[in-house]
Amino acid sequence: MTTPAIPNTPSKFFVTTPIYYINDRPHVGHAYSTIAADVLARYWRQKLGDENVLFSTGTDENSKKTIEAAREANQDVTAYTEEMAAVWQKTWDSLGISYDDFIRTSEPRHTTAVQDLVTKIHQAGDISKGVYEGPYCFRCEAFYKDDELVEGLCPIHKKEVELVKEDNYFFDLPKYSQQLLKLIQSGEFEIQPESRRNEVLSFIEQGLEKISISRANQDIGIELPFDSSQKTYVWVEALINYLTVAGYPADSYTDWWANVTHIVGKDIIKFHCIIWPAMLLSAGLGLPKRVFVNGFFTIDGEKISKSIGNVIDPVTLVAEYGNDALRYYILREIPFGSDGNFSTDRFAELYETELGNNLGNLVQRVAVMLTKYAGGQLTDYDKPPVPDVSKHIENFEFSQAWQALQKFFDSLNARLEQEQPWKVAKENPLKAAQILSEVAGALLAVEPVLRPLIPESAAKIRATFADGQVDSSIGVLFPRIGPRIEKEA
Ligand code: MSP
Repeated sequence: MTTPAIPNTPSKFFVTTPIYYINDRPHVGHAYSTIAADVLARYWRQKLGDENVLFSTGTDENSKKTIEAAREANQDVTAYTEEMAAVWQKTWDSLGISYDDFIRTSEPRHTTAVQDLVTKIHQAGDISKGVYEGPYCFRCEAFYKDDELVEGLCPIHKKEVELVKEDNYFFDLPKYSQQLLKLIQSGEFEIQPESRRNEVLSFIEQGLEKISISRANQDIGIELPFDSSQKTYVWVEALINYLTVAGYPADSYTDWWANVTHIVGKDIIKFHCIIWPAMLLSAGLGLPKRVFVNGFFTIDGEKISKSIGNVIDPVTLVAEYGNDALRYYILREIPFGSDGNFSTDRFAELYETELGNNLGNLVQRVAVMLTKYAGGQLTDYDKPPVPDVSKHIENFEFSQAWQALQKFFDSLNARLEQEQPWKVAKENPLKAAQILSEVAGALLAVEPVLRPLIPESAAKIRATFADGQVDSSIGVLFPRIGPRIEKEA
């Protein structure tokens, strides 16, 4: 028996990132949704316990893009796929991403889930045969209407599209328009931010059309359960990864399915906010609780692109600055949901000022002074109030959470400047120990709040002041700027 959920206090939390195409290597844009999902997963693990949180990411492999990329790399498709899936997984590992499941769409468990769900949609009478005729961009893996093309080219990639004419199966998307509108309007199916919700509503209101859900003559992909001559359209199949992770078709999938949050980029909202919920309605399954849409990163003002040559590899960045620096920059600098610019100069500036000076140096100063003036022992102190940023985190307001936390660090720094424990120590060492212990106590008290946001630094703060005893072997939090303790020296 599961405990009934109390409103706003779910018993389980399932968060997903999009599954990434393997024709390319990860860049900082991809790290955006993955880091946000990681913060949420860590936050909810603290609240609900590890066993009640599921965080998934993975790779979307059954695409024609994979075949093209393998050919370009002069590699066999299977070897290429293995290599690239490992590149993605290792990237998230080196960024310290705490995913519970890394799903690959080439796995047998995924084929099982896809065939089961597609069978349910077929049995519901929502799939019919037809002829697909029109433009298709394999880079997007998407069908376009003639009037959506820009000068005859794909509106996203600005490259030529294929003209496809083949027998396909179609899904009756329009059948679910009214039901979807109601679910979105009532907030039962939540789309955030508001602007994206409105975009989806107006798209549905303009009228939906049946969509092709299969491909003939394709080498890669999962066979349709009712016609083995056709492969399931890669987007239809990729969306089902979320169910595969939850354990579908085993009944226990519903444990996770009761509270799903999808994080997706703004380019893929029609798939996640229209096609996906309609597929679930058709199959008689529940909808995700919400879809949160993140904006796009540019780099120094330009679109991230291989041809422009401005791709920033997150692994290189964290090797230099550390994982927490990337997490901080990504979530503090750009309000989640908006588009934003990734600037390497600004990255270095925030590392030095807000992380290095405001937080790292604060921890270091207090640890050094406690060692010098109080034998490294914290005296008793009252537990200070710390900012509560839980609502900000739950609502993806990471940047606001950071503003509140930085204010708190400001106040601790200001206290040291005002009370000058290094001077007080000369006359009254007990008083100096008291001031320093209170500041260290405040850092210890805020440490659990920092854990989901900057886990490695939080662990260092914890270790530095653990058991009321300063451990000076832990070292500085942000070593690239080094310790700055001139005043007290
Ligand atoms: N495979 C599909 C998703 C299937 S989910 C069932 C896909 N893959 S992708 O690799 O092209 O993109 C994955 C995610 O990365 C998308 O959410 C996309 O919006 C995001 N981003 C790609 N470039 C980005 C930026 N420059 N900035 C922010 N997010 C970016 O689409």
